[in-house]
Amino acid sequence: MNNFESAQNPPAHKGGDVLTLKTLNTFAVDVITLPDEDELFWYVAQNVVGRLQFLDCVIYKADEAGTELIQVAALGAKNPHDREILNPLKIPFGQGITGGVAQSKTAVIIDDLLKDQTYIADSEPARSEICVPLVSHGRVVGVIDSEHPEIGAFDAADLEVLTTVAAMTSAKLELLAEVDRSHSQYLALKESHRQLSEEIQNRTALEAEFFNVRKMEAVGQLTGGFAHDFNNLLTVISGNLEFVGLAENEAQRQEYLDEARTAAGRAAKLIQDLLAFSQRMHLRPVRTNLNTMITTICAQNRQRLPGDIQMDLVEDILPVQVDPTAAEIALVNLMINARDAMPHGGTLYIKTENIQHGVADNESLSKNIVPGSYVKLTVSDEGEGIPPEALDQIFDPFFTTKPVGAGTGLGLSMVLGFMQQSGGAVIAKPEVSQGATFELYFPTS
Ligand SMILES: Nc1ncnc2c1ncn2[C@@H]1O[C@H](COP(=O)(O)OP(=O)(O)OP(=O)(O)O)[C@@H](O)[C@H]1O
Ligand SMILES: [Mg+2]
Repeated sequence: MNNFESAQNPPAHKGGDVLTLKTLNTFAVDVITLPDEDELFWYVAQNVVGRLQFLDCVIYKADEAGTELIQVAALGAKNPHDREILNPLKIPFGQGITGGVAQSKTAVIIDDLLKDQTYIADSEPARSEICVPLVSHGRVVGVIDSEHPEIGAFDAADLEVLTTVAAMTSAKLELLAEVDRSHSQYLALKESHRQLSEEIQNRTALEAEFFNVRKMEAVGQLTGGFAHDFNNLLTVISGNLEFVGLAENEAQRQEYLDEARTAAGRAAKLIQDLLAFSQRMHLRPVRTNLNTMITTICAQNRQRLPGDIQMDLVEDILPVQVDPTAAEIALVNLMINARDAMPHGGTLYIKTENIQHGVADNESLSKNIVPGSYVKLTVSDEGEGIPPEALDQIFDPFFTTKPVGAGTGLGLSMVLGFMQQSGGAVIAKPEVSQGATFELYFPTS
């Protein structure tokens, strides 16, 4: 191998300085628009042979591992097939002149190939050769090679021109790789977006399905429970009515009739509770003074309510807009629950307050009611309280901890349905061992 500066013969590249610069300039501008590697390699080969007047040009691309060169473009006297490589030559790194350039990352000019031991002669042996590496990010990604039938055909100017071409080609290769990377990133992003949308869709479908199952379960529970309770009451009614005919005296007859009447009353309450729960009770809200309602209820239900009732009723209570019958059923339900929770006696507390509920006041309450003016009615007792784990269930229809026949489990469902339908809310506080507290919020009218 010679030092290229010692070349004796005239340069193969004969364009002259100005023409060369112009050519390189055009080259740089054209390269920008080339869409892919294949176009780029052939464009380079065509211009090295064409505009830059080298006799031939062969371009090799390095494989990913950086161990082998593969012919990707070839033009000139020895490569007549134009844009077609019939049988691409493969040269391992380190082998021959091109393989040597790939390994050493250094451009070479060979003045006399016959004197070069690394030269692998082919059918039409050349005499001199120039070969420059394509380097990207410090890695050899290919080589550009040109041969000439005469000795010492290449000089320093040729080397400079070909090195500039190689630099432009490498820069464009980097750009294409970058575009490729961005495109794959875009595709990966698009794919993960597609997967995400699919997952969200699946999840929404699952949630809808789950909701349906829960709904069906609730309906099943509701109708099953209702049918069972209603059937029991009908049996009591019809049984007692049958006994009326068999009664031996008037007193017995009255007793059977009373039993049937009580059962019919309970059946009516069951229907009322159920309707209120399903929010189909026809409420007729009127302006109501809750204090007056409470005192009336207490006076009229003495036998059913706990003996010890303490009331703390606010003096200037604001009127509320509620259906008085439904409000009465709701209150009686709460009071009877309190009575049942205190089998050994205790005090039932009833308190009313005018309150202003603000957005930031009470987080759990804000989930149920909008900010505004309310009458807060608190019913608390000194019974066994509600275990925290049961708190979620007590408002469920037919949830009861009372013995069979003692409770239908619809009382609190009715209270919840009624309060929601009235634009208010009910909140239970589980003060185990200190009794239970129920807070009812009625919007003022
Ligand atoms: N004041 C209270 N103290 C303790 N537990 C209570 C209280 N109020 C309700 N509970 C619990 O909540 C359950 C459900 O109450 P709910 O009023 O809905 O039904 P019930 O009283 O069992 O039957 P009914 O339909 O006759 O009212 C009760 O069985 C009880 O376990
Ligand atoms: Mg009850």
